[in-house]
Amino acid sequence: MKLIFPYLVTLSSVLAVTLLSPAHAADAPAVSEAAREQFIRNFKRTILNTTPGDAMLLRILVQSSGAKRGVEVGSATGYGAIQMGVGFERNGGHLITVDIDPEMVRATRDNLRKTGLDQTVTVIEGDALKVLPALEGEFDFVFLDAVKRDYLQYLKALEPKLKLGALVVADNVIQSAGQMRDYLDHVQDPARYETVIIRASDEKGDGMAISYKRR
Ligand SMILES: C[S@@+](CC[C@H](N)C(=O)[O-])C[C@H]1O[C@@H](n2cnc3c(N)ncnc32)[C@H](O)[C@@H]1O
Repeated sequence: MKLIFPYLVTLSSVLAVTLLSPAHAADAPAVSEAAREQFIRNFKRTILNTTPGDAMLLRILVQSSGAKRGVEVGSATGYGAIQMGVGFERNGGHLITVDIDPEMVRATRDNLRKTGLDQTVTVIEGDALKVLPALEGEFDFVFLDAVKRDYLQYLKALEPKLKLGALVVADNVIQSAGQMRDYLDHVQDPARYETVIIRASDEKGDGMAISYKRR
């Protein structure tokens, strides 16, 4: 026993040093998957946030399309950004989310930090009509969810940066169809996009347009 005990201490010290070394800590997720999913389940949504069904659909669309670079227009408190962020993290990608309201930006950053997604999702404060034209690089996923009558302007600002096969998702296309007729006509032109309008959840009696960029 006298011989074994020091050996056990040494072995456990080596293991502890290995497990707690800075290199290992850097690789480990800051927030466990279970804790993140619990945070999403208990998220205190406001009237502005997307519904759980819509947010899960966004996550699934990001994951199944393998999207690498996305933009969300209108963050609110980050419920949709977190669900998309999970997908982008799994894809090794990145999401930019834009909101004009400093309080919303603060809340979204806070929620992203709590879910360990603050490296995967960047929050930009500003008017999307000014921020979007200044974004650099290409994008393969867009979620429009700010001022309904401005959807076509948001899309036009992003279109030169959209990859072929990009997905463009727009929220509230049933309840606010009258405010975005120009947008719906644009994405329902089969020469540009293949579009479907779906209802992923009954909570708000609303739906999303999912458009696949053809050319
Ligand atoms: C419906 S909420 C977004 C919900 C969010 N996408 C989610 O998944 O929870 C709309 C947001 O758009 C923001 N917004 C309104 N006008 C804007 C603008 N011109 N530029 C950027 N954001 C804007 C509002 O501050 C609000 O937080």
